Amino acid sequence: MKTCLVTGCAGFIGSHLVDRLLAEGFEVTGVDNFNDYYDPKIKEGNLKNALKSKAFELYKIDILDFGKLHEIFSKVKPQKVVHLAARAGVRPSIANPKLYAQVNVLGTVNMLKLAVDYNIEQFIFGSSSSVYGQSPRLPFTEDDPCDAIISPYGSSKRSAEFFVETFYRNFKLKTVILRLFTVYGPRGRPDMAPALFTKAILESKSINQFGDGSSSRDYTYVDDIVDGIVRAIDKNFDFEIINLGNNHPVRLTEFISTLEKVIGKKAKVNKLPIQQGDVEKTWAGIQKARNLLEWEPKTDILTGIKKYIRWLKTL
Ligand SMILES: NC(=O)c1ccc[n+]([C@@H]2O[C@H](COP(=O)([O-])OP(=O)(O)OC[C@H]3O[C@@H](n4cnc5c(N)ncnc54)[C@H](O)[C@@H]3O)[C@@H](O)[C@H]2O)c1
Repeated sequence: MKTCLVTGCAGFIGSHLVDRLLAEGFEVTGVDNFNDYYDPKIKEGNLKNALKSKAFELYKIDILDFGKLHEIFSKVKPQKVVHLAARAGVRPSIANPKLYAQVNVLGTVNMLKLAVDYNIEQFIFGSSSSVYGQSPRLPFTEDDPCDAIISPYGSSKRSAEFFVETFYRNFKLKTVILRLFTVYGPRGRPDMAPALFTKAILESKSINQFGDGSSSRDYTYVDDIVDGIVRAIDKNFDFEIINLGNNHPVRLTEFISTLEKVIGKKAKVNKLPIQQGDVEKTWAGIQKARNLLEWEPKTDILTGIKKYIRWLKTL
C-alpha cells in the first residue's frame, strides 16, 4: 500500500489531490486546521467524497502545533508528504505578514523536521509563481534568481523554499518544490478572481478590475496541477524545483470576456488602480516539467472556465 500525508487537504487543491490519490489506491492521511480564511463549511464540503473512503484519515490540527504533528507522524509513518497547507493569497499577506511568515515558513519547517525524523521517502512542497515577483525574465524559469518578490506571501514561499533546499542539503531529504501558477477550477478559492468575477456576473454586480486590464495570469486548471503533483510523487528526485503552469498567459480583459462568453452575460466593470503586491504578469516556462515529469497542461482557458461554471451550477 502506498501512503501519503497531505497538508491543506481540505483546501481547493489539497482536496482534489486527496480524491485523486484515493482513486489511485493510496492510503491518505489529511491534515488541515479548517481556518476561517474562507468559510470552513466549504472546506468540509470539499472532503465529502474523501471522507466516505476507508483509506482516508483526517486530522483537524494546526501545522504550527509540532506536538500534535509529531503524534500523527509516529502513528502513520507516511512514505510521501505533500505539503500544501499555507496562508494563500497575495493581498491579505500585506495586511498580516507575520501570520504568513508563521504558517508558511515555521509550519513548513515543522513538516520538514518530521519528514527527516521519520525517514519520509519524498517531500513535495507546494510553492507559488509569486516567488518570481516582478522578474523581467519571461517566461519564468526555475533558474530565475527570484530577487524581485513584491509580496509578503511571495517572500514566505521563497523563504520556505530555502528551508526545503537546506533540508535536502543537510539531511538528504528527497524534495521537490512545485511552483504553481494561478490555479482555477471546481472548488476554486472564493477569494480569487475566477470565483469573485463569476459570482458578480451571475448576480449582476460590478467586478473590481484592478489596473487597465492589460495585466495577465497563467491560469492553470486544477486537474492539470493535480496531475503534475501526482507525477512528482511517482518520481524519486533528490532535489528539483519545477514550474506547473499553463504556459499561456491570459490578459485580464480576455479573462473577463471569456467568463462573459461562457456565462452569456456582460460584466459590469469597475476600474480601480492596480493593487499593491500584484504583479503585472505571470507566465510559466514549463520545459523542465515536460522533461522531468512528462507533464503537459491539457486544459485551455475556455474549456477550463466551461468546466468551472458547469460545476458551479451543480451547487
Ligand atoms: N490556488 C492557487 O492559485 C495557488 C497558486 C500557487 C500556489 N498555491 C499554493 O497551493 C497551496 C494550496 O492552495 P489552495 O489554493 O488550495 O488554498 P486553500 O486556502 O484552499 O488551501 C489551503 C488549506 O490549508 C489549510 N491551512 C492553512 N493554514 C493551516 C495551518 N496552520 N494548519 C493546518 N492547515 C492549514 C487551510 O485550512 C486550507 O484548507 C498553498 O500552499 C498555496 O500557497 C496556490
